[in-house]
Amino acid sequence: MSGLWDRFVVEPLVSCACTSKPIMQQREKVVPQAEGVVLEVGCGAGTNFDLYDQSKVKQLHALEPALGMIKRARKVMAGHDLEAHTQFHLAGAEAVPLEDNSVDTAVVTFVLCTIPDWQASLTEVRRVLKPGGRMLFSEHGRAPDAGVAKWQRRIEPMWKFMAGGCHLTRDTADMLTSSGYELETHETMYLPGTPKIAGFVAWGSARAA
Ligand SMILES: C[S@@+](CC[C@H](N)C(=O)[O-])C[C@H]1O[C@@H](n2cnc3c(N)ncnc32)[C@H](O)[C@@H]1O
Repeated sequence: MSGLWDRFVVEPLVSCACTSKPIMQQREKVVPQAEGVVLEVGCGAGTNFDLYDQSKVKQLHALEPALGMIKRARKVMAGHDLEAHTQFHLAGAEAVPLEDNSVDTAVVTFVLCTIPDWQASLTEVRRVLKPGGRMLFSEHGRAPDAGVAKWQRRIEPMWKFMAGGCHLTRDTADMLTSSGYELETHETMYLPGTPKIAGFVAWGSARAA
């Protein structure tokens, strides 16, 4: 049942929510900065692929543990200018199938909200980043306003069920700094035209501390 639920309900729903105009604008703030050997963590349906600056990306490792999502991503990549430089990995971020110190840029968009073991995943991403390598992130998470955060906590159990394990109450900056990253840039806002419980977003870049 969960396979059918994921395939016909969760995956199309998540893909649709992830391509709304305000969310696309959030992606555009970070993805074009990726350069060198790039690891995209939880690439989902490949929504970021068109946003890479191809002149800067040498190799793209697209990591995604959900078979249905990676199939969608492969379709998006078919015939794309980056196709020859892209390798897909059917894997979770808790065990990245790449060498230590091999990645220049890790791209993490709307995925830290979902990864079950985010501590292990962020440690793994740090392992594969080269010294001086950068993480680019664009996420949503816990709102700073107590009233909004209260509703986020209340709604989260149902939300997780409907949205493929997505949490509303994770704090992106806390997750990164407690996992050994130093924030280089970090901006936040409520997304216009989006309910506040799902619309508090954070974006920026981080390096291993
Ligand atoms: C909301 S979607 C976002 C997908 C994509 N990053 C984007 O920006 O459109 C969350 C993604 O995280 C993936 N995911 C779940 N657990 C994961 C894990 N352990 N490691 C990496 N990705 C994971 C899901 O399969 C899903 O594709």
